[in-house]
Amino acid sequence: MTIVVTGGAGFIGSNFVLDWLALHDETVVNVDKLTYAGNLGSLSAVMGDPRHIFVKADIGDQPQMAALFAAHRPRAILNLAAESHVDRSIAGPAAFIETNVVGTFRLLEAARAYWGDLPLDEKAAFRFLHVSTDEVYGSLEPAEPAFAETNRYMPNSPYSASKAGSDHLVRAYHHTYGVPVLTTNCSNNYGPNHFPEKLIPLCIHNALSGKPLPIYGDGQQIRDWLYVKDHCAAIRRVLEAGRLGETYNVGGWNERANLDVVRTLCAILDEVRPRSDGRSYGEQITFVKDRPGHDRRYAIDATKIQQELGWMPAETFETGIAKTVRWFLDNPAWVEEVTSGAYRTWIDRHYDRSLVHGA
Ligand code: NAD
Ligand code: DAU
Repeated sequence: MTIVVTGGAGFIGSNFVLDWLALHDETVVNVDKLTYAGNLGSLSAVMGDPRHIFVKADIGDQPQMAALFAAHRPRAILNLAAESHVDRSIAGPAAFIETNVVGTFRLLEAARAYWGDLPLDEKAAFRFLHVSTDEVYGSLEPAEPAFAETNRYMPNSPYSASKAGSDHLVRAYHHTYGVPVLTTNCSNNYGPNHFPEKLIPLCIHNALSGKPLPIYGDGQQIRDWLYVKDHCAAIRRVLEAGRLGETYNVGGWNERANLDVVRTLCAILDEVRPRSDGRSYGEQITFVKDRPGHDRRYAIDATKIQQELGWMPAETFETGIAKTVRWFLDNPAWVEEVTSGAYRTWIDRHYDRSLVHGA
């Protein structure tokens, strides 16, 4: 048995692949374009493992996706490939439309053709699982209830609009063609392998490097934080038992204001890696210009996945953030490779290039 995971060299994808191979013997075909966000160094533990087949490819290359499905005959395709950073989508939305909308469309087309030709039993068992975000629901007022699966889509950034577009395509492929799809909409993740352009890894890195910790606007924007391994467990559970055509919201019941998150990081670092001058990392907090169109609050109501599928996060914010800081402190080489840009040539320096198909 084989699954295809797209975007498996990214933050969530690499955690998913590592956890999957730690739990299963089933082969993973990992399809990733290796954009700036793709890092084979995050997968060093499984490069060379025969159960992990890495293919450098674009999900928007429909003929290549079709050939790959025909060659590997996956029982499921999990789509995690995306452009994922909101600030980059504001600076340059084109890549977000290309990958998140057009790329997902091409991937769906290849999946539909592949699924349509499967023998009946394999056809019934096949799944296309699309990983999406809570940002498609827009922004909440302070007293509004958390996002349920029935909330209206109101995306506010080019990123969230492109993810919303991809969600609608996935839904339509089920409704119109009967493709057996599942969608997850998750809140903010954090944990190992997180690219240091996002708030939590950026602030850990900047704190340790003596740089400012940039807080957009007043820092009172609220996000609902989930440890990445809990998200991966939710994806596995939805793949295993999710009802076809359904969407599942995934979140950690951990709403925190950005400023509180950064203060928590500083407090942990003050304890485990005190500054040499004895002062607090909190002194590096710097308020900067706000993100245009900045969503004020996200919060996920994860009742459905809990009640239907029995999924619950294992980590609280306190346990997850402590593990995350520890991971960054214990993996200075990973951080150095990413921040220096050396990760982009990781495969050449560590392995035979034949481990990367299509490169
Ligand atoms: P990421 O940016 O860290 O990784 C994305 C990966 O996709 C990279 O390895 C990149 O090389 C690859 N990729 C990009 N374009 C591609 C293309 N055209 N073809 C093949 N591969 C391509 O993103 P992430 O944070 O790991 O997010 C993964 C998925 O989860 C995304 O769909 C994102 O929208 C969703 N999501 C993320 C979060 C979060 O907090 N990070 C929360 C909810 C949902
Ligand atoms: O909600 C899920 C989404 O979470 C995912 O779909 C996205 O892929 C993921 O990137 C994340 O989006 P955010 O924009 O919420 O994450 P980011 O880490 O960029 O920012 C978190 C919050 O912190 C947000 O309110 C903006 C703020 N921020 C961010 C950065 C990078 C700052 O105040 N300073 C910063 O330097």
